[in-house]
Amino acid sequence: MRIALVSDGGIGCGALPALIAALRRRGWSVIPVLLPVSAPGLGAALLSDLCGSAAVSGGALPAVDVTVVAPCEASLLAALQAPSGSGPGWRGPVVVVPIAAAPVTTAFQRAGWRLAPPGEPLLGGGVTGLLMASPEVVCQMVAACVAPQDLAGTRVLVTAGPTCEDLDPVRFLSNRSSGLMGLALALAAWRRGGRVTLVHGPLQVDIPRLPELQAVPVRSAREMQAAVLANADAQHVAILCAAVADFMPAHCAERKIKKGDGAGYALELVRTPDILATLGALPRRPFLVGFAAETHDLHAHALEKRQRKNCDLLCANDVTEPGSGFGVATNRITLFARDGSVTALPLLSKADAAERVLDRVVAALPVARLSP
Ligand code: CTP
Repeated sequence: MRIALVSDGGIGCGALPALIAALRRRGWSVIPVLLPVSAPGLGAALLSDLCGSAAVSGGALPAVDVTVVAPCEASLLAALQAPSGSGPGWRGPVVVVPIAAAPVTTAFQRAGWRLAPPGEPLLGGGVTGLLMASPEVVCQMVAACVAPQDLAGTRVLVTAGPTCEDLDPVRFLSNRSSGLMGLALALAAWRRGGRVTLVHGPLQVDIPRLPELQAVPVRSAREMQAAVLANADAQHVAILCAAVADFMPAHCAERKIKKGDGAGYALELVRTPDILATLGALPRRPFLVGFAAETHDLHAHALEKRQRKNCDLLCANDVTEPGSGFGVATNRITLFARDGSVTALPLLSKADAAERVLDRVVAALPVARLSP
């Protein structure tokens, strides 16, 4: 994909190297474009070096798939929002990344234009004022520009990460889930136009702050169930990817448990609620996707689990297989559908695996929306 990166040379250009690196890490070509108003200090040579592509000055843009205006300071934002401000012959979708909270008019309702939300303070350390969306947010918005919008108008709930079941104020039971697969699903659904609610346990990864992606942090299985049920009614699709603890301590001690004199310590555990099975038993429920992390007999366990939890699609992976375990960037998923079909996906990045799962959801959705 080819991206034109339009900059006006203001102080916010200090944020450009990290953004350019993030765009290029995805394999996208970045062509820097300097506007006629760009400050001479911007450094066309440095920008060209960072992008690996000669800077284009003023005039018409090169032919690209997406134009990114970043950082977009207040004066440029105002110019872009003027009736004649559609840019010098800009074609294709445009992502505008403002650096300051400038007033925004309806100009951004133009087809194909997206306005990035404000991000963290650029200067950090409690100094506020200059805000720009993170490189990850910009990359997600760019990817959304070229994604099929086949989940537009669809509400999608995703659960992700582990749950933590507290034993006392300092200890808890949990598992190795990083949350990467659940986050990949939430982001893929968002890029395809879905309105996403992400209910997640403690994650090892950051959630990009995107509009229409609502993150609901929880800790325990019971909290996750409450958050899921509170949101379930409004959803068209629910994808339960979280590694929910199956057991929790029968009691959580108010004070730290002391080891005492004994040689051992016995914990009494009780079952947590099964969130997927609870949703599966609802008379009116969203299209339901479950996950199954297995270490052996994957097919038999997956078939049994799909039926017992009454989900429409079950995604199973063998966590002992290289590249399919916890905390890695890839996954090999086998899909078990309600109609009995079994589809083995190849080893894919979690982002690509998420797209393939959503392809199946989208294909089934019109039927699912009609069913009780
Ligand atoms: N799940 C859930 N609530 C639980 C346990 C699991 O909603 N208390 C969901 C998971 O999010 C996943 C699916 O059920 O979508 C399967 O989870 P898994 O742990 O593989 O299945 P279990 O039912 O726990 O079976 P087992 O541990 O015996 O393999």
